[in-house]
Amino acid sequence: MKHPLNWRVTLLALLVSSSAAFADSRPATAPAAATAPHVITQRPGHAGIASANFHATDAGLEVLAKGGNAFDAAIAVASTLSIVEPESSGIGGGFMAVLHRASDGKDVFIDARETAPAAVNTKDYLNKDGTPNRDTALNGPLSAGIPGEPAGLAWLSKHYGKLPLKDALTPAIRLAREGFQPDGRLINAITERQDDIKRWPASTAKYLPEGKPPVAGQVWRDPDQARTLEILGEQGADGFYRGEVGKKLVDAVRAAGGNWTAKDLESYQIKERTPITVDYRGYRVVTAPPASSGGVAVAEILNILSGYDLTKLDDAHRTHLVIEAMRRAFRDHNDYLGDPDFVKMPLDMLLSPYYAAGLRMTILADKATPSSMLPASIAVDPGMHTTHFSVIDKGGNIASITLTVNYTMGSTFVAAGTGVLLNDEMDDFALVPNKPNVYGLLGSAANAPEPGKRMLSSMTPSIVFGADRVGVIGSPGGSTIITQVLEGILAFMDGKDAQGVAAQKRFHHQYMPDRVDVEPGAFDPATADALTRMGHTLKERSPWGYMNVVTWDLKTNKLDAASDPRRESGLGKVQ
Ligand code: DON
Repeated sequence: MKHPLNWRVTLLALLVSSSAAFADSRPATAPAAATAPHVITQRPGHAGIASANFHATDAGLEVLAKGGNAFDAAIAVASTLSIVEPESSGIGGGFMAVLHRASDGKDVFIDARETAPAAVNTKDYLNKDGTPNRDTALNGPLSAGIPGEPAGLAWLSKHYGKLPLKDALTPAIRLAREGFQPDGRLINAITERQDDIKRWPASTAKYLPEGKPPVAGQVWRDPDQARTLEILGEQGADGFYRGEVGKKLVDAVRAAGGNWTAKDLESYQIKERTPITVDYRGYRVVTAPPASSGGVAVAEILNILSGYDLTKLDDAHRTHLVIEAMRRAFRDHNDYLGDPDFVKMPLDMLLSPYYAAGLRMTILADKATPSSMLPASIAVDPGMHTTHFSVIDKGGNIASITLTVNYTMGSTFVAAGTGVLLNDEMDDFALVPNKPNVYGLLGSAANAPEPGKRMLSSMTPSIVFGADRVGVIGSPGGSTIITQVLEGILAFMDGKDAQGVAAQKRFHHQYMPDRVDVEPGAFDPATADALTRMGHTLKERSPWGYMNVVTWDLKTNKLDAASDPRRESGLGKVQ
């Protein structure tokens, strides 16, 4: 925890010095405890899936047609993405999921995040002169955490699915064997990362088979990964973390200078956690708890915003308040959050409406608070890798899942003989105190690497329950995941349909740097002018995340599935 005293003193100074402190338009009251299961008795009778790739959406629909539920479909979608969208996620990476089980209304969070190997050593991420070594943090086996996705898929199947794991993996295995045509995004990702890929022979053989990236129209096969998925299907998690596959992973990592051991793999465990729940404007948002920072930040922002009637404000003032709430939530993100199994976090405080009310009082009606008045943290270059998909099945089960290998093509390191591309999630730790990671996020001791610890994530898979509508929302985007999901949630509450939520123009503030990143076209000139006059620094930026959304209208009982038009429309399907 950094500067707690300084922080409070500065807030107080800001309050006292400002006679113009913005009077809240509504009193701050504690919302009702939001813990009861959310039972919805009605059933949609049809299903909707939105993912980042049509093979993956179709794989999910195929498994539903075979009698699977949303969780079996999620396994099919995730495993197919591992084949067709390896730049974003895969069985060498991890995921975080918010699930809703229709039969009993249980909302649960599945933490299939990677962990640090026991031999993790911060010196490996420093150059001889003590400066951060960005290469070991982002490339090759030292950058890879112990994968969580295979255990997560096995867990989903065992505890929530209806079909045997191998049946849910069948579409991915078939596609990997029969072949598919890589899309433009995969070709671009391989092209962008080819110099790093060339450093590892198994990676070169897989991604640069003729010494260069694949070209459009070429048919691609992934027999090694097909075999690994098959063993996972036959043996469950042990098929990946032990035996033939586990040995190959450890041998490959160690031969290339990494430090994994068989014990690291054998001791990997899925964590089932209670999601974060926040009530806002008659909606209940169920979202990701630590080891993600996303849900805490979304809850803190919504709690701050709950003191205003945003619907009565013009665009500039509404946006100003949202930015100020983001600024304050990201300040806390950097200082307090980490793996809940390792660090004590003041979650009661961060999630309290009274804490939010205190923060709200420091927000001026029409003036930006310089982040420098709210002590300490840095910048972003999210890139667009990582992936989110949303599923609702005909029985009303819901899966909201964000998956990642971290940076584009993860570590670029494929473990020979397994087809598994390893993540570079170690960079999500605060590897070097007070030095930014690839998303410009700074961290504190709470997110320092330790053996077996999960690195803090921004992934924010969420489900929004309203009296008349349910929305399943999430996005990639590094640190901007949090603000994009927040804006998606607000757009949903404003009544936008799945397409409208996915297409919603975006903006982002993460405390430091003290600027608002803005999607071109997000603000009309008058709003942009007004925000600038209030003291906000606006900076246009692209690209933004890819949101895949499914909504359920409880009045008409209709599902709607939409993929992000920034990427490719039509990847959301209802059947
Ligand atoms: O878990 C995290 O927060 C990051 N590894 C996510 C990375 C990401 O979203 C990349 N870009 N779009």
